[in-house]
This record gives sequence, C-alpha cells and structure tokens, in this order.
Amino acid sequence: MVKRRPSSHRWLREHHSDPFVLQARREGYRSRAAFKLTEIASLPLGNNGKPFLGPGMTVVDLGSAPGGWSQVAVGLVGDRGRVVAMDLLSMPPLEGVVFIQADFLGEEGLQLLTRAIHPSGRVDVVLSDMAPNMTGIAAADQTRGELLAEAAHDFARLVLAVGGALVVKLFQGPGFHETVRRARLDFERVKVVKPKASRDRSAEQYLVGVGFRGGISEQ
Ligand SMILES: C[S@@+](CC[C@H](N)C(=O)[O-])C[C@H]1O[C@@H](n2cnc3c(N)ncnc32)[C@H](O)[C@@H]1O
Repeated sequence: MVKRRPSSHRWLREHHSDPFVLQARREGYRSRAAFKLTEIASLPLGNNGKPFLGPGMTVVDLGSAPGGWSQVAVGLVGDRGRVVAMDLLSMPPLEGVVFIQADFLGEEGLQLLTRAIHPSGRVDVVLSDMAPNMTGIAAADQTRGELLAEAAHDFARLVLAVGGALVVKLFQGPGFHETVRRARLDFERVKVVKPKASRDRSAEQYLVGVGFRGGISEQ
C-alpha cells in the first residue's frame, strides 16, 4: 500500500472540505478555479461599467484543463460566441469549446491556435490561467510563471481587437511590477485582483487589462 506523507493527508482533508470544491461539485464545474473567473468576469471594467466578457464574444482560454474557466466562458459568450482553449494536458470535450492539446510556448501550439481563431482572427478576450509545474524552488517557479504570463500578454497584443481584454495569472515576485507596467501601456484600465477562490497561501494574483488600445506600443 502506498504510504501518504502527512502533508498530502492535510491537502486531501482541506480539499474535500473546501467550500469552493464543494460548490463546484454541486454546480457541475470541473474545477474550483471556475469561481475565480466568475468573480473576475463580474468586475464592471467594460465600457460604461459593463462586464468585459459577454454574449457573442470570441475568447481564447490558455491553460484550460480541466475546463472550469472554459465552462464559465461558454456560459457567458452564449450561442453566438466562440471559445478556443489550449492546454498541455488533455481535456474532456465541452460543448461550444474548440480544444487544442499543445504547448502554448511551442511554435506548433501557436500555429494551431492562430488557425483555430481564423477566419476572423479577431479575439475579444484572452484568458490565461497557465501555471508551471511547481518544483518547490521559489525562484525557478517564479521565472517560469513570468515566462508564461509574458507569452500570454505578447499573444494578446497580436490577436486582440481594439477594446479587447486580457486576464492573466501572475505570481508575486521580482518581475511583477514590470508586467503591470507593460499592461498599462496596452490597456486603458488595469486591475490586479485576488479572487476569493484563490487560496491565501498561493502567491497567484490575476492581472485584468481592459480596453486594448491596439497597435503595438513601445515596451
Ligand atoms: C491552474 S491550471 C488551469 C485550470 C483551469 N483554468 C480551470 O479552470 O480548470 C493550469 C494549467 O496550465 C497548463 N499549462 C502550463 N503550461 C502550459 C503551456 N506551456 N501550454 C499550455 N498549457 C500549459 C497546465 O497544464 C494546467 O492544466
């Protein structure tokens, strides 16, 4: 029999009594992360204080597995919208979502994604909940997290329609302020949020940039 370490016992106990895990189970969401996007998408950051993610929009969901954010996005964009999702891991099919299993940082992943958002090529919202596999070495994890966030931001600059939005997971660390500074050059409104469903002990926060200015700013 496999002997679990005390820390994994603690994790299992906490996981099964976590209110967001229980709520996700009750409401049919694939992950508790769904509630992070629900809270972020309710922020009145769109034009005239409206939500920035809504009916008819095209959304790209990076780091989508197991699919909580995609489920929320599909519900918000409705029948006339589109959700294109990508992850290194497989993801069970979700109605209304085009899923691509690939590495977003690789050339092929980028090509497949660009093809999937064709023919319009216009994206209203780029979401990235991508997180590296944590090694426990803080500096290495931080650097890899920053790389993913930076790549998501660069992609957003290429595909977002003017007025579009970016939501990207960031980890507190040395590059944090520089990432926020860059976002302010590209977006009219920038907010950094820690949703209630994000665990206190996690260093993650989300940058929300709304009102993409278009063009490529000097960074
Ligand atoms: C926190 S999970 C995402 C949870 C998801 N948003 C949800 O609501 O269910 C982070 C995901 O990022 C993915 N990821 C990390 N690096 C990636 C990369 N280079 N390309 C694609 N996905 C990546 C991981 O495989 C993992 O599934």
